[in-house]
Amino acid sequence: MAATEIKKGITWVGALDWDRRLFDELIPLPDGTSYNAYLVRGSEKTALIDTVDPSKTGELLENLQEAGVTRLDYIVCQHAEQDHSGSIGDILEIYPQAVVVTNEKCKSMLMDLLLLPEIKFQSVSDGQTLELGGKTLEFIFAPWVHWPETMLTYLREDKILFSCDFLGAHLAQSRPMLSDEGRSLRSAKRYFAEIMMPFRLPIRKHLEKLRGMEIEMIAPSHGVVYPRPAFILDAYDEWVSDRTRNLVLVPFVSMHGSTREMVEYLTGALIRQDITVIPFNLIHTDIGELANELVDASTVVLATPTVLGGAHPAVAHAAFLVNALRPKLKFASIIGSYGWGGRTVENLLASLGNLKVELLEPVLAKGAPKEKDFQALEQLAAVIAEKHRGIGVLS
Ligand code: FEO
Repeated sequence: MAATEIKKGITWVGALDWDRRLFDELIPLPDGTSYNAYLVRGSEKTALIDTVDPSKTGELLENLQEAGVTRLDYIVCQHAEQDHSGSIGDILEIYPQAVVVTNEKCKSMLMDLLLLPEIKFQSVSDGQTLELGGKTLEFIFAPWVHWPETMLTYLREDKILFSCDFLGAHLAQSRPMLSDEGRSLRSAKRYFAEIMMPFRLPIRKHLEKLRGMEIEMIAPSHGVVYPRPAFILDAYDEWVSDRTRNLVLVPFVSMHGSTREMVEYLTGALIRQDITVIPFNLIHTDIGELANELVDASTVVLATPTVLGGAHPAVAHAAFLVNALRPKLKFASIIGSYGWGGRTVENLLASLGNLKVELLEPVLAKGAPKEKDFQALEQLAAVIAEKHRGIGVLS
């Protein structure tokens, strides 16, 4: 049990998931995660902001007990995804007088996902407030951080923003307050890359709105609490901007060494051009690391052998994810080798339709790469350098 007061009358009562290693059966979690729930006590009413993943309901209940909660008036549900909402049914059984406060869209989703009866809800609109007695909760709708129903909660008197998934991080640490800036920033960037990056444009608008508010602390529902909001807001401003770095990513697979030889040659050629390059062997790569670097890379070069007439499935999977994450890449290319034919380039290009990139001439070698293939790779590196100069990331 580890209920922790983060400010007078506001207590973290969430759960730590130290050894969870996969989220949504998709996202690797090298540092585990936390499900942050917060208890806000006014002079008249008590509200719980978010709950926890159903696997951790016991910890939430223990923390509520440790915090001495005998009556709960409101459960504020900011987001219907089950890692924050999944304990609501159990909490309602223990605290039957509580009502679930959320917006209409979230209510409808909770009724679908958790089979909660409509009578247990109190709907709020954007900007509406809820008085607890000396503590006023204001609800701020923030659709598409990463679901359509999400809302944030602003505690006016204490100037605390409860931001749900937004501005969070998959990170478990023993106390909720930010303590290791480097580790927290790395986790927050990776989380942004994996979950928030496809929604850069709506997020820009939300950030603008938050910049107009007086916020002294940000308390997300994953990761750490930020006592200095600029720490995470400034980072998000950079991540959602159109600015990229002088960085090329080369996700690759090689079956018999030819594609690897091409990747190694291209890597050297790019380095000679003063370009930072990261090759990712997709057979061993944590896909979250690739996502993390996509946040500010300028160029991606997919490298694949031809198998079953097209790209290796691991490269096809990486292309699918790159496309779905919609990074701000400016340029893309494809390299690799083939034995007798195939539609590698056409297939990969067809799966990159979301990207607003300029395609640079692919380099495909028949069998092992030969002198003319190495020359083509040298030329590709030179073109990438020229393009990077053109966008001002390489002098
Ligand atoms: Fe942490 Fe979208 O749930």
